[in-house]
Amino acid sequence: MSDSVNEIETQLAALKQEATKAIAATNTLENLEEIRVGYLGKKGQLSKVLGGLGKLQAGDRPRIGALANEVKEAIQQDLDQRRNDLQAAKIQAQLESETLDVSMPAVYRPIGRSHPLNSTIDRVVDIFVGLGYTVANGPEMETDYYNFEALNTPADHPARDMQDTFYLPDGNLLRTHTSSVQIRYMEENEPPIRIVAPGRCYRRDTVDATHSAVFHQVEILAIDEGLTFTDLKGTIKVFLEEIFGEELPIRFRASYFPFTEPSAEVDVQWQGRWLEVMGCGMVDPNVLKKVGYDPEVYTGFAAGFGAERFAMVLHQIDDIRRLYSSDLRFLRQF
Ligand code: DAH
Repeated sequence: MSDSVNEIETQLAALKQEATKAIAATNTLENLEEIRVGYLGKKGQLSKVLGGLGKLQAGDRPRIGALANEVKEAIQQDLDQRRNDLQAAKIQAQLESETLDVSMPAVYRPIGRSHPLNSTIDRVVDIFVGLGYTVANGPEMETDYYNFEALNTPADHPARDMQDTFYLPDGNLLRTHTSSVQIRYMEENEPPIRIVAPGRCYRRDTVDATHSAVFHQVEILAIDEGLTFTDLKGTIKVFLEEIFGEELPIRFRASYFPFTEPSAEVDVQWQGRWLEVMGCGMVDPNVLKKVGYDPEVYTGFAAGFGAERFAMVLHQIDDIRRLYSSDLRFLRQF
């Protein structure tokens, strides 16, 4: 065996030992890659040693070649093993650094919600929109004309006593009902008309469990050729079934409103009691004439009801004042 063979064998053994040490000592994947290139790369240590192979006698070459291969594979194995370990450690460290502490107190973020009165009005409006009605609005500060006069209620009319009114110093008033929107809308539009008009109203009522000086109504109005009381009844029936979620006994009681003829009040039997839920009627021909409609051609029906009343019945609220109390303990229930 020549010296060169011995020399190369020693070099290979030393190379293997050195590489094993370096691989074990490294702690990063980047460094590990540098080590790989340093030993096994094209210009790496192993290549350098093998460069000396040419000096060997032909008979020695296969043995040394095989030895070189063994060293190469051994180093490669060490590299692979270390790479796996380092990768696993890296993932572990990442998982640990990203761990959520589920016992940490959460940041409280209150979520707002619709006020029961608003959600009730929304539901009512949605039902009528579903029936083809358009939403209409009018001002809360009204003239005597729109609130009374045009609704067939002149100044000396006894029906004015039905609605105790807040008058403003300039002679205007705070609307006592949403019926004023009927007139405003009819003045601006031609029949056929179907509107639903929700809004705030004001009356000089003494505040108690069922009365509030500020309250909300929803008004509906339909004008067309050939509308009859049957259409009114059918519409109200469908609406009440929708809002109460079931078919309930209802009754129409003859009543009086200056702007409708005939007029009725509607009661619905709910949880064993008759509840009065709205006023309604066929639009009085005088009202149609006031806005320039021909009562010989057009007829229509109207209805108005208190939104608070519906909210209270639907949510079993016992006192109207709770709806205006801003008491979060109350409001959070809805
Ligand atoms: N505006 C009436 C009130 O506030 C309610 C009402 C009755 C409205 C009959 C109507 C109706 O549209 O036809 O007491």
